[in-house]
Formats: sequence, C-alpha cells, structure tokens
Amino acid sequence: MALSQELSPLRQLPGPARLVLTVFLLAVGLGYLAALVQLHLQDSRGGTLLPTVADVILKYTGKQWLETAPPPAVSQLERLIMGPIEGVPWNGTGSMAAAFFHKDGAGFKREYEQADEATKERLMAERNGEREALRLWIRLEDDAQRRAAYEADRFVPPPEAAPKIITPHYRDPDGAIKVRSILTDRCARCHAAGAEQENYPLETYDQIAKYLVVPPTPVVPPGGGWVSVATPISLEKLAQSTHAHLLSFAVLFSATGFLFALTGYPALVRYLLAPAVLLALVADVSLWWLARLSDHYGPYFAMIIPLTGGIAGTALVLQILLTTFHLYTARGKTILACLLLLAVIFGTAVYVQYVQPALQAKRIQPHAAKLVDTTSERGRNN
Ligand code: HEC
Repeated sequence: MALSQELSPLRQLPGPARLVLTVFLLAVGLGYLAALVQLHLQDSRGGTLLPTVADVILKYTGKQWLETAPPPAVSQLERLIMGPIEGVPWNGTGSMAAAFFHKDGAGFKREYEQADEATKERLMAERNGEREALRLWIRLEDDAQRRAAYEADRFVPPPEAAPKIITPHYRDPDGAIKVRSILTDRCARCHAAGAEQENYPLETYDQIAKYLVVPPTPVVPPGGGWVSVATPISLEKLAQSTHAHLLSFAVLFSATGFLFALTGYPALVRYLLAPAVLLALVADVSLWWLARLSDHYGPYFAMIIPLTGGIAGTALVLQILLTTFHLYTARGKTILACLLLLAVIFGTAVYVQYVQPALQAKRIQPHAAKLVDTTSERGRNN
C-alpha cells in the first residue's frame, strides 16, 4: 500500500515543480509565524510569548476564576488615573496615567532623564501625589462636596490621608489641593473643545461626572467561581475571524495536508497527520463559539482552545518539514538540513537578542507602575 520513497508522485515531479512546492511550504510557514506574532500582539496581556489559558478564557468569555472577592470596583476616572504608566493601551480601557508623567506635554520626560536619582524620586513622588489627591477627591462620598471642591479649585483632604508630597504648584499654603487645575493641566489639555480629544471633553464637572460612576463589584460564589470581569469578544468580531480562518486557512491547510498525503511516509502516519491541521482548525473555531455562547461551560471550552491551537501548529510544522525533506534526494536533504540549522540559529539569536528583552520589559513595567502605586498607598496610610 505505502508508496515507496522513490515512486511517490511528488518525487517524480520535475525539479522546478518541486522548487515551487518548497517555496510554497516555506511561505505557509512564514505566514503561520506572522499569525503567531499577531496572536501575541492581540491577546497576550502579561508579557508572555503567547496568550495564557487565562488570557484565552478572558477573551472568549469575559470571565476570570476568582476565589476571593476582587477589590471593590472603581470608577473609570479613578481606573484611568491610577492605572499603570506604561504597558497598557492609551485609551479608555487602558490607562491615562502617563498624562502625569512622560505624556504631560510639559517637559517631564526631559527633566526626568537629566535628573539625578534623588530628583527623579522627588519628581515621581510629586506626580504620584497629584494622582493620589485626585483619587481622594474622586472617592468623596458626597457628590455636592466633590462638585464644590472642583468649582472652587480647593479640595481639603483629611490630614491623615493627604499625600505628603505633591507638585508644589497644586497645593495652597493651607494644604488645600487645586484639583480642578490638576485635571485641567493634565487631562483637559487634550480633552477639550478644539483639542485632540474634543469628543471626550473633561472641562467641566458635569463632563467629568460621566466617568465617576462606580460599577457594581462582581459577586464571587463561596469557594470560588468564574466571574464576569470584562466584555467578551463581540459576535461581529468572532464572525469575521471565523470567516477568515475557515475560508482562507482551510484552503492553505488542505494544500499542505494534500501534499503530505502524497509523500512516501508510512500510510498510518499520513492518515493521521495529513488531515490533522484542518481538523484541529475546525475544532479550534468551534470551541471559540462554544466558549463565547455557553454561559455555564464557556471557560471549560475556552481552556481547550490552546490545545487545539497547539495541535494545529505542531501538525503544520511537521507537514511542512516532512514534505519538504521528502521532495529531495540525499544531497538535497543535506543542504536543507544545513539551511534549517542556520534558520534555527538565526531564530534563536533573534529571540535572545530582541524578543526576550522585549517580553521581559513588558513583564516588568506594569509591576514597576504598581510599585509606584503601593508607595503612594503607604504614604497615605501612615
Ligand atoms: C495627550 C493627549 C491626552 C491626554 C493628556 C489625556 N488623554 Fe485621555 N484620551 C486620549 C486618547 C488618545 C484617548 C482615546 C480616545 C479614543 O478611544 O478614541 C483618550 C481616552 C480617554 C477616555 C475615554 C473616553 C471615552 O468615553 O471613551 C477618558 C475617560 C480619558 N481619556 C480620560 C483622561 C484623563 C482623566 C486624563 C488626565 C489624567 C487624560 N485622559 C489625559 C488622549 C489624552
């Protein structure tokens, strides 16, 4: 039954045809690599190469496994002001914290870069003081009191909680803080009529109040459970991604599978590996929908997605390598092996030189921003 190596139809193709097939397989491999890069950029949140299982569950279900009650939900304004300085998107779902630092439009970056360590520390503390003061103001229970403090540009924080250090310019001699000035300088610079973000103005208390609504804190069942913490992927986006995957990738993976089926490897291997990428792709896409639509079992379906994705990737790499090697005689195989070795060395070098440091930096930044936060928290408590 099994085609012998020499008699397989692929081996009988003329040289130029085999060359085209080789380049085709190489292109599919590179395309797949690009798809992985896109997956990293789109879905990986915490500085991992590929999205983690938790990332995937969050994407398709909007849920997270929580054992204890999450910290109380905060208003969008507080979240954007107190969020990380770097490493998250610069928009309403990410953080606007950089507006107090290198995006202050007033030379913080230049000053910080030229400063000595002590000055750097002071600058950071001053800017964090602004954020801390705003947080205290945002958390005032009484809306009328909050509004009055804004209108008068005078917010008197409780002395025990007041930030110890704040940009001097924003503190009156009696300790009152100019919250309105801070919001105007740091935020309304962009969020104002005629400015870059005039669609989202933050020039008056009423405009700002829209972002002061505190959403309900999710309820965690006793013993832990899957809790909705974010909006899952929209159905439109899922439909579009499904269509792209099933139509274009199905054609590509049929081609790679078909070529592998025509090689001279043992029949059993070909039966298993040739349709594997396609099958895993269909399973993967089905799981997206099951995860998105099933309220109860969604997270469990989502957990399998990395597995089907992994099977598809492994099977594709095997198909490409095995088919390419099969196309050539012993001498061609040796050359291919050398080229492959070079590619692996090059890939490893690129990874160590560029990819790893970039991931490392992504992992450290949110953490560093947190450190800044906890320091100011400590300042507040003592
Ligand atoms: C350098 C310009 C700039 C500064 C300064 C700035 N932002 Fe933004 N802001 C943006 C951009 C850009 C977006 C994304 C807009 C979009 O999604 O189209 C945004 C979005 C927002 C949104 C979401 C609007 C919505 O309804 O979707 C809020 C709220 C916000 N910023 C608050 C702030 C606050 C608070 C500050 C001050 C701490 C601030 N911004 C400082 C540029 C700026």
